[in-house]
Amino acid sequence: MPRLVAPLLVPPGEPKPAFPAGFAWGAATASYQIEGAWNEDGKGESVWDRFSHTPGKVLNGDTGDVACDHYHRWQEDVALMRDLGLNAYRFSIAWPRILPGGVGQVNSPGLDFYSRLTDALLEAGIQPFATLYHWDLPQALQDRGGWPERSVIEAFAEYAEVVSRRLGDRIQCWSTLNEPWVNAFVGYQVGRHAPGETDLGRALAAAHHMLLAHAAALPVLRAYSPGARVGIVLNLTPQHPASPSLADRQAATWMDGYINRWFLDPLTGREYPADMVQSMPVEAFVQPGDMQAIAQPLDFVGVNYYTRNIARSDVIPESENAPRAVFPVGEMTEMDWEVYPEGLLQILGRLHFEYGFPAVYVTENGAAFRDEVGPDGHVDDPARREYLERHLRVVGRAIEIGVPVQGYFAWSLLDNFEWGFGYSKRFGLVHVDFETGRRTLKSSGAWYRQWILGSV
Ligand code: FCB
Repeated sequence: MPRLVAPLLVPPGEPKPAFPAGFAWGAATASYQIEGAWNEDGKGESVWDRFSHTPGKVLNGDTGDVACDHYHRWQEDVALMRDLGLNAYRFSIAWPRILPGGVGQVNSPGLDFYSRLTDALLEAGIQPFATLYHWDLPQALQDRGGWPERSVIEAFAEYAEVVSRRLGDRIQCWSTLNEPWVNAFVGYQVGRHAPGETDLGRALAAAHHMLLAHAAALPVLRAYSPGARVGIVLNLTPQHPASPSLADRQAATWMDGYINRWFLDPLTGREYPADMVQSMPVEAFVQPGDMQAIAQPLDFVGVNYYTRNIARSDVIPESENAPRAVFPVGEMTEMDWEVYPEGLLQILGRLHFEYGFPAVYVTENGAAFRDEVGPDGHVDDPARREYLERHLRVVGRAIEIGVPVQGYFAWSLLDNFEWGFGYSKRFGLVHVDFETGRRTLKSSGAWYRQWILGSV
């Protein structure tokens, strides 16, 4: 694929868009990616502990054993957030810290940790946005079959109850799951993520049970956290055909069905997309009443947006052999993801106008670049600043055309463990030296503070 690196310039003098009062300005993290302390204070093993401890699974043999050591440095991290001017913070709770065996015995030190963190955030004027599950399934549940096993639904509802009984008086915004597509398909079909399985049927069952687990947790969260808003976080990626050929357009439609509609449709009462079920058989695990159970009204949907995808058919009939017209034209990030802010507008518009979600949060958005600490101790990352600014302007545009976007969370607060890529990809507003744990605010973080304060 050609790599055309164009400068990422925001037109000079563009006025800053208006954001509604009460807009959540945040940053996001996830438990396994930052906490470390993988076996401390009674925490159980997670599938990511097992996966990263298996040789050959994660680049350079990296693990989340220590990560950013946030479990011990959380006070420093809350202070960083306050200094950044954030009024919201999205974090996830490690299920095996709360229920080491997945169900049953509760580990109070785990609950205490999140309770202290929540209090400290509130004290610092930062609204806690908690995600119940960001991929660190207790290994004990995986040993019983994991997400493809239907009993996981009840286990998740039990976990939701234990957590919300303790934190429900203080958390005002809950997400059940983070990116079920990535967790189900990259974890159970592609095998690049924990638990590293490679079976489409099991991936589909996993995804289905995630949707049901999400639905089962909703009434629990509403009961123990009355008044809180409850939703789910999805990774959504616009799919653009590489050429106008029928085959490429069909490929784009299929990819849209696989990544986006597979979750959006059932969540909004449309069931699994009819055009997809032939290649994605669901009869084996869908039971009567499941689709109605999944389609519960949500207070919001969270979207994690990074890039678009250019869809190409594998098989191109002669007559369809049009030249591939669309290539990324913007800069590519360190992940080799195209910088494509317009795609965020497409997704935000679709969520509200096509699917009718009453509120939307951008729960993740950001970019990996190769950052270095300069001789003066500063980390200058202009490409990330440009990335953030261009996407924030798109969020402003979405609000202008009537999409109820209520908050934006930069991914990520800290450089952290980027799953299969280990520590090789830096997404943070804050640089982390993984040898010493030292945190250094990047220039993009300083810029974000100015943006939030209204002075850029
Ligand atoms: C998302 C994940 C998040 C992070 C970013 C880069 O898919 O939710 O944990 O890895 O990608």
